[in-house]
Amino acid sequence: MTPQFAYDVSRTWEANAESGPFLASPITPVPETPMKTFLGLPVRSRLGIAAGLLLNGRWVRAYAERGFDLLTYKTVRSAARPCHPMPNWVWIDDSGNASGPVVATGAIPGDLTRLSSAVCFGMPSMHPEHWRSDVRSTVSALRPGQLLIVSVVGTPRESGSIEDLADDFARCATWASEAGAPVIEANLSCPNVCSSEGTLYLDADATHRVVRRIRDAIGRVPLLVKIGVFPAEVARQRFLDSVSGLVDGITLVNCIARPVLQPDGSPVFGEGFRTVGVLGRTIHELSVVAVASLRQALDRRGLRMALVAVGGASTREDIADFFRGGADAVLCGSSPMYLPDLAIEAKRRHPEW
Ligand SMILES: Cc1cc2nc3c(=O)[nH]c(=O)nc-3n(C[C@H](O)[C@H](O)[C@H](O)COP(=O)(O)O)c2cc1C
Repeated sequence: MTPQFAYDVSRTWEANAESGPFLASPITPVPETPMKTFLGLPVRSRLGIAAGLLLNGRWVRAYAERGFDLLTYKTVRSAARPCHPMPNWVWIDDSGNASGPVVATGAIPGDLTRLSSAVCFGMPSMHPEHWRSDVRSTVSALRPGQLLIVSVVGTPRESGSIEDLADDFARCATWASEAGAPVIEANLSCPNVCSSEGTLYLDADATHRVVRRIRDAIGRVPLLVKIGVFPAEVARQRFLDSVSGLVDGITLVNCIARPVLQPDGSPVFGEGFRTVGVLGRTIHELSVVAVASLRQALDRRGLRMALVAVGGASTREDIADFFRGGADAVLCGSSPMYLPDLAIEAKRRHPEW
């Protein structure tokens, strides 16, 4: 039987948004930590939660109370978008392989820090009227030293141009900024959406136009871009050229795409979504390599951008891997769902984080 986690995978995304997070109380006291800065803003720690798990303001506040200080509000759009049909989130067994297909499993490891999973939500979004007012009240509910990062994405229209898409990104970013978001993250990568926004960061020209348009719209508000791994060095070079001087930081990685299958070989999320994003333990090593190598590339070119690391951080050691690799901040994507006290544990031992 599945233990009670903060997100109930047996219920719809909407039900989780309405009733979650399902967290046990009381809350362990959060250790006091000294202030430091992230993107020039004062923060209690450079530990947080990546876009996805924090479905709305109630989720943000629940995890803020558990010591996470960089809280990413799940990716929102300029129009409401329903979630893909269930299942949306399954546990996986990678059989020890770093690439190739993985198999869905009902077996959860006794040691939850070993857990890996796969998601297919399709980047659902609340109606903008709803998220704009929710962001506003969430920002004012956070304590000094906690930052809300609002993740936004443009929605491509059929036969729409890249300029239309850039306008839509900018519209969402402007709304988020008007609602008081101190930091905006543009999601330039999502392996679960069968449309051009899925791999935007690999198209340097499109990336430049989108990021330029967002920057013009939001002025000096700190801007992060969320990306995935690069298939080749040349793609990374082009990407860095396209965002240089326009963004304040880069968040990586957004899942790693692999076929996710049932034991009989059929795709778990349906034929249209055979290859989706996997996360958790199985992507940690790859994510550390991607972050460290991007840090070296930034340093070589003298580019001053913050590096926000994501990918399988489930223990203090995983977080340390990222800081050692040159990350300026570390976000957990899936682990706070089943390890909600991770920031508290990390802060106890590492108040300097
Ligand atoms: C439930 C869930 C939903 C997600 N939705 C988004 C999303 O809307 N936008 C986004 O940029 N990333 C999304 N992600 C990806 C995470 O931000 C993160 O990049 C990924 O989970 C890898 O981190 P992890 O290995 O720590 O889980 C989602 C992840 C989860 C678990």
